[in-house]
Amino acid sequence: MIKDIQQEILKLKKEKDICILAHSYQAHEILEIADYSGDSFQLSLLAQKAEQKTIIMCGVRFMAETVKILSPEKTVYLVSPDAGCPMAEQMDKEYIEKVKEEYPDYTVVAYINTTAQLKTICDVCVTSSSALNIVKKLENDKILFIPDCNLGSYVAQNVPEKTVKLLQGGCPAHASVKPEEAELAKKKYPNALLLVHPECQPGVCAQADFIGSTSAIMDYAKNSKHDEFIIGTELSIAEHLQYECPDKRFYPLSQKLMCSNMRITTLMDVYNCILGKSGEEIALDIDTMTAARRSIDKMVELG
Ligand code: 13P
Ligand code: SF4
Repeated sequence: MIKDIQQEILKLKKEKDICILAHSYQAHEILEIADYSGDSFQLSLLAQKAEQKTIIMCGVRFMAETVKILSPEKTVYLVSPDAGCPMAEQMDKEYIEKVKEEYPDYTVVAYINTTAQLKTICDVCVTSSSALNIVKKLENDKILFIPDCNLGSYVAQNVPEKTVKLLQGGCPAHASVKPEEAELAKKKYPNALLLVHPECQPGVCAQADFIGSTSAIMDYAKNSKHDEFIIGTELSIAEHLQYECPDKRFYPLSQKLMCSNMRITTLMDVYNCILGKSGEEIALDIDTMTAARRSIDKMVELG
């Protein structure tokens, strides 16, 4: 059944000149039919390079918006209109405009997990894989980092030459894992390396053997000589790694690492989206796209 739907999707996407992008948190059967999969930064770059005129995003809304902003001439669909990122919606433009008034000489660095509206008033975007590199390269040594205070703390710690102002935002799934859970997991699996996403709390990151984006965690585990890993990011990553590396062992850091929004999309939804029966075409006005693009272009330039 799954194979039949996959075959049908592959046939239709070729006929209709469609490119399917999938974030690494998507289900295995979706990653199998995607033209490209990866972390947020990789998807942004791939979206620009794709030759097809229509792009279907299997992920959450800010990812589809980013594709549209980078390729306004393309038709971009978000497979599941209800798939948002709670962190991206935590802070709106009006609130950040007020904060900016308090910190007028700060450069506003926005995690890509923000709405297109919010990006219009930010100076530069970053992803988890590009944040350190980009913040280091900024001329200003005063940084207002939004919205994720955990990723922001990770940046502040690794770029000590900058003053980083943080706000109270974050990923409900990653931020819910407590440092004590990391301690317990390490005791339970003493031979395993702990690999975590920088959206985790500083007390969790401090115990990690490696900190990186979803793709960086996967690459690290695949290339490592070690054969046991505790995975501190969405549960799907431990599942994908177990499938790809059957001789190694992968233990989820916590069952709380579940992003319900990333799990909304099914293979059938992708099929229906290609058929035009579901999905949402991303429509952003030209002023929003132009203003938001400045911060994304700056990310691509510096990253
Ligand atoms: P990555 O940039 O690592 O793919 O992270 C995106 C995300 O939403 C993690 O929760
Ligand atoms: Fe957003 Fe967290 Fe889900 Fe990533 S895991 S999409 S940051 S809610």
